[in-house]
Amino acid sequence: MSILSGKKVLLGITAGIAAYKSATLVRLLIKAGAQVKVVMTPAAKNFITPLTLSTLSKNEVHSSFTNEEDENASWNNHVELALWADVFLIAPATANTMAKMANGVCDNLLLAIYLSAKCSVYYAPAMDLDMYEHPTTQKSFDALAKANNVQIPAAHGELASGLVGQGRMAEPEEILTFIEDHLSAGLPLSGKKVLITAGPTYEAIDPVRFIGNHSSGRMGFELAKVAASYGAQVILITGPTHFNTQQLAIREVHVTSAAQMYKAVHKEFEACHIAIFAAAVADYRPKFVADEKIKKHDSTLTIDLEKTQDILASIGAIKKQQFLVGFALETQNELENAKKKLVKKNLDLIVLNSLRDKGAGFKTRTNKVTLITAKNEVIPFKVKDKSAVAQDIIAHIIQNTHA
Ligand code: CTP
Repeated sequence: MSILSGKKVLLGITAGIAAYKSATLVRLLIKAGAQVKVVMTPAAKNFITPLTLSTLSKNEVHSSFTNEEDENASWNNHVELALWADVFLIAPATANTMAKMANGVCDNLLLAIYLSAKCSVYYAPAMDLDMYEHPTTQKSFDALAKANNVQIPAAHGELASGLVGQGRMAEPEEILTFIEDHLSAGLPLSGKKVLITAGPTYEAIDPVRFIGNHSSGRMGFELAKVAASYGAQVILITGPTHFNTQQLAIREVHVTSAAQMYKAVHKEFEACHIAIFAAAVADYRPKFVADEKIKKHDSTLTIDLEKTQDILASIGAIKKQQFLVGFALETQNELENAKKKLVKKNLDLIVLNSLRDKGAGFKTRTNKVTLITAKNEVIPFKVKDKSAVAQDIIAHIIQNTHA
């Protein structure tokens, strides 16, 4: 889950050409789960229409102290808007607005809100390179830093004037990532990379058939969302499922077969701090994949199978300081088998699901797990929704790593 999920974001738009990117910014904020309200300076309306922004944000856009078009002109309460926001993002921030912010000038609604805001203020400068480098602009930056406002640095590149240099507003995606990272700093998994495998694998028999299993992928996706909500950068390597996360903190890598998952995991593992293997990987695959659809002939059909690579065991064999977590789905001698797997695959933690427990296993919304640690601690949990199970697992990992 993005750290912006559920947060109230007030987007302030000032009169720079980069204002045309504000529409994308609103969409990205909404996609991250934020509630968005927009306030514009009057001149910003020359660059993007309030209609576009109110449609995308699903909220009225404000640009003056009163709603002029309304005969019974109502007052736009700047204090109320300022206190509503958890985050005030001014993007683009022009040299003019920044100079006013730096000096307490309050000649429009956006500036009045700025002076009343108690929340975190971020601003993304956008201007020509000479304006950017001008000592008075640099003075504004210093004054805003002193006021604890956070600058989202402008990029170096081609500017609307045709000049090339610093001053181009950060791209909307970069602005979002910047704010997410900034808000996440201090969370228990911030700065940590977490690799998670999820879902089933499909092993082809011929061009239209495969051997698969009933894993829905839900457990792995819930783990990814919880890890991201604690500030982690997640790489989610998933077999075929109908889930998707669409969160910037979660990078999904889609694979089909065990061999593809093996390759993807080995490509990503080294840079990771924590790896959780929740995928239900096929243990066997057809030895030969038919080029054409197999026709029915005889009353029986035999397909020769060969072992797939055990991805988790192969990672256990090469892991260094990473915290490695596996899952075990057992139907008998559960604890004993799970402990054996933990040792054999060189894990720090194994999550045992017993198919004998009601509410556990594949395709259910709930799960009942027991955590077994490398120190042989056995920690049983009750039947819970898979998102709550994911919370328990991630909480244990946080407590037991130096994350
Ligand atoms: N796993 C894996 N690659 C495989 C098989 C399993 O990465 N080819 C991982 C699973 O994601 C899980 C753990 O290994 O985290 C345990 O898988 P499981 O199938 O329960 O155990 P196996 O070691 O395959 O033993 P068995 O099937 O005999 O119980």
